[in-house]
Amino acid sequence: MIYLNGDFMPIEEARIPVLDRGFIFGDGVYEVIPVYSRRPFRLAEHLRRLQHSLDGIRIKNPHSDAEWSGLLEQLIAANESDDQYLYLHITRGVAKRDHAFPKGVAPTVFIMSNPLLTPPQELLATGVAAITASDNRWLRCDIKAISLLPNILLRQMAVDVGAVETMLLREGFMTEGAASNIFVVKDGVLLAPPKNHLMLPGITYDVVLELAAAHDIPYEVREVSEYEVRTAQELLLTSSTKEIMPITRLDGKPVGDGSPGEVFTQLYQLYQNYKVTVMRGDTPAP
Ligand code: PDD
Repeated sequence: MIYLNGDFMPIEEARIPVLDRGFIFGDGVYEVIPVYSRRPFRLAEHLRRLQHSLDGIRIKNPHSDAEWSGLLEQLIAANESDDQYLYLHITRGVAKRDHAFPKGVAPTVFIMSNPLLTPPQELLATGVAAITASDNRWLRCDIKAISLLPNILLRQMAVDVGAVETMLLREGFMTEGAASNIFVVKDGVLLAPPKNHLMLPGITYDVVLELAAAHDIPYEVREVSEYEVRTAQELLLTSSTKEIMPITRLDGKPVGDGSPGEVFTQLYQLYQNYKVTVMRGDTPAP
């Protein structure tokens, strides 16, 4: 079941006019929210980021947080899996083709749910391969825009060589992955690039830094150079659907000793424990 502009329906019945600006221009934003045991994870934070994205492209938020929460609750109940991930898509709506904003047009609101399958243990045990590429995206990567063409082309470069992610480098520094945030472990310190216009402010990224702070894992939020990436002991990838994964090969060479490292193992366990706490409805402190 999906939600489209006020109605719940099977996805096969959902229809959007071809003049929707999402289709014509990629003129919209989205969010991805994981759901564990039918509870949306970090909902307030995801809705705050959605507001930031909407503000960034000047679409008025069509719903209050309470309305969003109610819609998501209904959609979660209407779908089978206990663990799901929700995609919220908002476009500028349907209008005659013209770059300038149309007047008096209601945004299109679409929400879909898929069963959430977190990465299998076999993959976590070996880690995954990544490649690097030059970050050729625009300068508002903090907006979760549906126009993802650069990210698609960059991620496909990884898939074409049997890797799972492309790590992006801009002017000698690492920004993020094509569809994830990246952490580097160097000299025993977890390094995270600072949140700014060059990367998506990841919700999982925030959780990881909170866990590091709460459990005395040394960390620094600062620019991370390409040299530090290439000489890292560990590389970690984070996203709402992949949680935390170790990158154990970069551009065909082993990262550290080529197997998942201590910082990954510790953070992964902390993340799983934290999730369970949130799922039980206990105070969600790290
Ligand atoms: N992508 N950076 C980019 C470019 C991303 O697309 C994502 C997530 C992240 C991680 O953010 P978060 O931890 O909030 O999921 C960082 C999602 C999963 C997607 O587009 O499907």
